[in-house]
Parts: sequence; structure tokens; C-alpha cells
Amino acid sequence: MIGTALSAAIELLRRDEVVAVPTETVYGLAGNALSPRAVASIFEIKNRPRFDPLIVHTSSVERLSQYAAAFPAAARRLAEQFMPGPLTLLLDKAAIIPDLVTAGSPRVALRIPNHPLTLSLLQQLDFPLAAPSANPFGYISPTTAQHVADQLGDQIPYILDGGPCRVGVESTIVGFEDGQTVIYRKGGVPVEEITALIGPVQVREHSTSNPNAPGMLKSHYAPGAKVVIGNVEELLPGYEGQRVGVIRFRKTTAKLPAEHQLILSPQGDFAEAARRLFAGMRQLDALQLDIILAELLPEEGLGRAVNDRLRRAAA
Ligand code: TXA
Ligand code: MG
Repeated sequence: MIGTALSAAIELLRRDEVVAVPTETVYGLAGNALSPRAVASIFEIKNRPRFDPLIVHTSSVERLSQYAAAFPAAARRLAEQFMPGPLTLLLDKAAIIPDLVTAGSPRVALRIPNHPLTLSLLQQLDFPLAAPSANPFGYISPTTAQHVADQLGDQIPYILDGGPCRVGVESTIVGFEDGQTVIYRKGGVPVEEITALIGPVQVREHSTSNPNAPGMLKSHYAPGAKVVIGNVEELLPGYEGQRVGVIRFRKTTAKLPAEHQLILSPQGDFAEAARRLFAGMRQLDALQLDIILAELLPEEGLGRAVNDRLRRAAA
């Protein structure tokens, strides 16, 4: 059921049930992070491998610091600047966080989502929420309540509707290794804004198979049709006679029907492109295309996060 009743969500979460919740990035599939039973059902509903750990969501930096064993100065600076917001910090975990949540890792991913409904929900709960994106494992993340209902509606007792997600790509995941700041997933906080605050960072590209390279299974966000990255006008002649869709930043092509073209931002606005990406991919997916040709955005700002999702859709 889709609704806006915080009380319904609270009651279910207190009983160790799972609820889909809005965030500014994507919708999450949330359960009590301190309850092994609730966490186990998140993995089950998503069909997610147990080795892929979950992000723990809370409502304030003060609470967040209780779930970490240590809070390095750089992490604190990032928290002060970007939380609540699309940033996830990977910190040494406090003993209270179950191993199931971190998939046995000594580090926990922590985030404060910037969405009024979910912030209010978190403030009224006396436990944090573990929440992966509310999609079946490997598929495109949901950016509306209806997206969640379309795929997981019959398995979730309640979907809290907070409208379409404002950012539209997942949080940026940042951790620290031997005094180095590492970005494990490009997301809603652009890399440039992080380096402006704390200096140079290492950006880790995703790996295909190593679950210890956190977060980062390569094939992901994948629609049903095969995705190929490159120059659309150059690639198109190679697919004559097939049902072709395109994903582009600004320009349409005269060679395809309008409904086969996802134009992310005619104005060339990265934030708009990020916001529209996943919903647009779902629409293309519904057309039963043979192939989707995707053109990368300039590698700057939120363009990097969009490109990362396009590359993973193509992997
Ligand atoms: O924006 C977001 O971060 C959304 C919303 C719902 O908050 N959540 C999200 O969760 O994208 P998920 O589970 O789809 O992606 C989280 C990523 C995973 O790839 C996971 O491997 C990584 O974060 N991760 C979580 N905990 C980790 C840990 N302890 N160590 C390393 N990586 C971790
Ligand atoms: Mg996900």
C-alpha cells in the first residue's frame, strides 16, 4: 500500500517489518538496523546477496556518531557540511551495529537522508534504519513511490510516498584508508565539492567481483535491453531494423521516434539529468527495445555520477 501516514510506517518498523521510504536520492527499503530479523527480510525481499552490506540511516550527526567507533576529523568536516544530504560515510563500526548489516566488515556505512518525511520518521524512532535502494538487486533504483510499488509492492506492507526524489542518483560513499580519503561510489555530492572542503581524494572505480571493494559490483542499474555506450549518431547505422532507444544529455536525433529518446536535460543541467535518469531508463525499459545507445555526459559535477550509472547499466 502507498500512503503518507508516518504513524503507519512507525508502527510497522517497530514490529520489525520493512517499509519503503523516500529520500532525496532514491527510495530505500527500510528496516530496524539493530534487528537481525528486519535486516534479514530486507536482503530477502531485494534478493540481495548477503555479502553486499547496507547503509544505516539516522537523523542527526550526534546519533550517527554513536554508530561509529571513531569519527576522524575529515569525516566530521564532511558531516558538518553535507549532512543531511546525499553523502554516506564509511566509518569503523560501533559494537551495536549487527554484523549482518555490514556483511561482516568492520566498517559501517552511515547517512542522514535529506527528506522531511523520512527525517521526521527517523526522529520518532529510537533505532536507526538499514536501507538499500528499494529495487530488486541489480535493477534500476526507484525514484518514485510508484516505481517501488511496480516491482516490490506485493512484498512490502507500506510504501511511504514522499514524491519524486530531488537528487535522483544515490549518495556519494566516502571512506578513509591510512589517512587517505577514498570515494567508493560517485553520487549526489559531486567529487569537486568534497575536494574543495578536504583536499585531494582517491576515486575508486567499481570492481566486477570483489565485495571488499565496497559498494561496487559493476553490473547494476541494468534495464532489460542491452546498453551500449558511445556516440549515438555514429552507432545508429549499425542497428538498422532493430528497436533502438537512446539516452543523451541534450540533443535529440531525427532518426528515431521521440518516445525512444531519453534526453536528460535539453538545457544541459547536470542536476536535472541526474534527477531524470532512472525514471527515464524505466520508461525506455517498458518499450521492449532491442538495444539502448547511451552517450556519456561531460565528466564533471553530477555528470560523473550519471556516467557511472550509465557505465554500470552497460556492464
Ligand atoms: O542514496 C543512497 O545511498 C540510497 C538511499 C536509499 O539511502 N541507498 C543505497 O543503498 O544506494 P544500496 O544498498 O543500494 O547501496 C549502498 C552501497 C552498496 O553498494 C554497498 O555495497 C555499500 O553501499 N556499502 C554499504 N555498507 C558498506 C560497508 N560497510 N562497507 C562497504 N560498502 C558498503
Ligand atoms: Mg542499490
